[in-house]
Amino acid sequence: MPKKILVATSGGDCPALNAVLRAFVKAATATPGWEVYGSLQSFNGLLDTPQRVIPLTRQTVSGIHVRGGTIIGTTKESGPFNWPVKRADGTVEYIDRSDDMVRLCRVGGFDAIVNIGGDGSQRMSLALFKKGLPVVGIPKTIDNDLCATDVTFGFQSAVDVATEAVDRLVSTAESHNRIQILELMGKHSGWITLHAAIAGGAEICLIPEIPYRIEKIKAWLDRRFEAGKRFAVVAVAEGAFPAGGAPSEEKKAHSNISEKMSGAAERFMAELKATGIEEGLRCTILGHVQRGGTPAAFDRVLGAQYGVKAFEMVAAGEFGRMVSWQDGQMTSVPLGEAVRALKTIDPNGELVRVARAVNVCFGD
Ligand code: F6P
Repeated sequence: MPKKILVATSGGDCPALNAVLRAFVKAATATPGWEVYGSLQSFNGLLDTPQRVIPLTRQTVSGIHVRGGTIIGTTKESGPFNWPVKRADGTVEYIDRSDDMVRLCRVGGFDAIVNIGGDGSQRMSLALFKKGLPVVGIPKTIDNDLCATDVTFGFQSAVDVATEAVDRLVSTAESHNRIQILELMGKHSGWITLHAAIAGGAEICLIPEIPYRIEKIKAWLDRRFEAGKRFAVVAVAEGAFPAGGAPSEEKKAHSNISEKMSGAAERFMAELKATGIEEGLRCTILGHVQRGGTPAAFDRVLGAQYGVKAFEMVAAGEFGRMVSWQDGQMTSVPLGEAVRALKTIDPNGELVRVARAVNVCFGD
């Protein structure tokens, strides 16, 4: 009897998910005795009636490494621990179907479960492992905020897109003598924003790790304008906030994993206006452009490494762990360690020091 692996992509999508899937399936199917199946829209495909679980073969994954998104779909709205059920009055109740999931995995004869996802999804991996499922996690997120791995795949692709946006805004800001404000993703971490600010040469960089003071930014801009440069690009992380304030975010009542950050750039623009800078302010919210499209070469390679390592872990029976990239080596960590904390930028660390050295203002 062949051994069966169930793979799912969970949470928000990100570039190179397909590269990971391809590498995983190729590694598994090159080894006699293994078959891979994909649950569509995360584990919803397994839980649905009728089930939506498809075989993943070498043919299915051929050539997909260059494509954005995920060929098996994903969701962050529902899952085994928050399954939506419509009540008679039309309202929706969320129930725990994790026991069902355990049963369905056993009925399906799955010997291993691989969950490719970010922090919320790896918390789900841990909870499923604790219920007895043989789970391996693969870290995914453009935010790069998982503490147990040096870098997540998808991050570099997002940074490349964000940097191009900064580059483009610099030239139009300079032509019109404007202040161009660019909001970038990252939830409660500023990795994408800080990298894009350094790479693209944004003058001001606002990240959640360094709360800003609007009066400092106004003074910094005044000095710049007096010196003859009458334009600036401000890279604002969606989770950035003023000192004494809080991130601009909307939490969904039914779920502990889904939340929406919105409004950081607009708030900053209003604060800037209140200091007397009335004209020449423009705001761009880059949004999901950072998540979609062709993955960077770096992420395709990293994704292939994650995929191959994940299969090696499955074959060796190393469950309850997440693949991790540390100090230039593929390794793994217990899922509990993987979700222990978010990885944020050290305000006194190397990257912030370098940014300050190239004149990036953090408004602190
Ligand atoms: O976690 C990845 C991410 O893109 C965040 O940077 C962002 O806050 C969030 O997902 C957006 O999620 P959604 O797809 O629900 O809008």
